[in-house]
Amino acid sequence: METLEAIRKRCSLKARLSPRAIEPEKLWAVLDAARLAPSARNTQPWRFVVVQGAAVEPLVEAAFSEANTIAKRAPVIIVACANPEDDVTREGKAYYLYDVGSAVQNLLLAATDHGLVTHLIASFDEAEMKRLLHIPDDVRVVVVTPLAYPDAPSYDEAAAERLAQRSRLAREAVVFAGAWGRRLCTDADAPPLEDDD
Ligand SMILES: Cc1cc2nc3c(=O)[nH]c(=O)nc-3n(C[C@H](O)[C@H](O)[C@H](O)COP(=O)(O)O)c2cc1C
Repeated sequence: METLEAIRKRCSLKARLSPRAIEPEKLWAVLDAARLAPSARNTQPWRFVVVQGAAVEPLVEAAFSEANTIAKRAPVIIVACANPEDDVTREGKAYYLYDVGSAVQNLLLAATDHGLVTHLIASFDEAEMKRLLHIPDDVRVVVVTPLAYPDAPSYDEAAAERLAQRSRLAREAVVFAGAWGRRLCTDADAPPLEDDD
């Protein structure tokens, strides 16, 4: 899969998780993609707690919100953390969140590239998560994701319904020409989105 194809096909698939085990080399492929992300002054504040196998269900039951307990089907939960003190804060902007986000986006795209499904989750009990995983007091849990094979013969089949429902703001709502609020173009007169070859 090419990068742009992975960007287009990544979507949140907590309802399509298979319990099938993930090979260590695939797990490392997605974690190494995360490690290659850029960060402010190359601080690399991200830390990942990888929860696997029998440890997944008790963690999800205890720390995830009701709507996200479906994630307990996954063979792996990746818990993305950072100590804010390890990163730059500039004019009130705490860049550890940005940097962890970049790393996690790399992770999501690498997972998609390998045909694995993910689903970012921020709705969890951080204190309980930290207690169960022995995460130090000064470290924040930023976001978590299950990592799993899809419960379908292929990633494309598992993702089809979700991708068909995808909604995004129009180009003109988020892209401005030279000054805030000035239209660069409308969806109608812009070139079409690149399609798969
Ligand atoms: C920071 C963050 C936190 C999220 N937390 C949750 C969550 O707690 N539960 C959930 O079901 N989805 C969660 N999502 C998934 C979003 O709802 C999803 O990314 C969005 O609807 C776009 O859909 P897509 O990922 O399929 O493109 C979260 C996404 C992000 C980026």
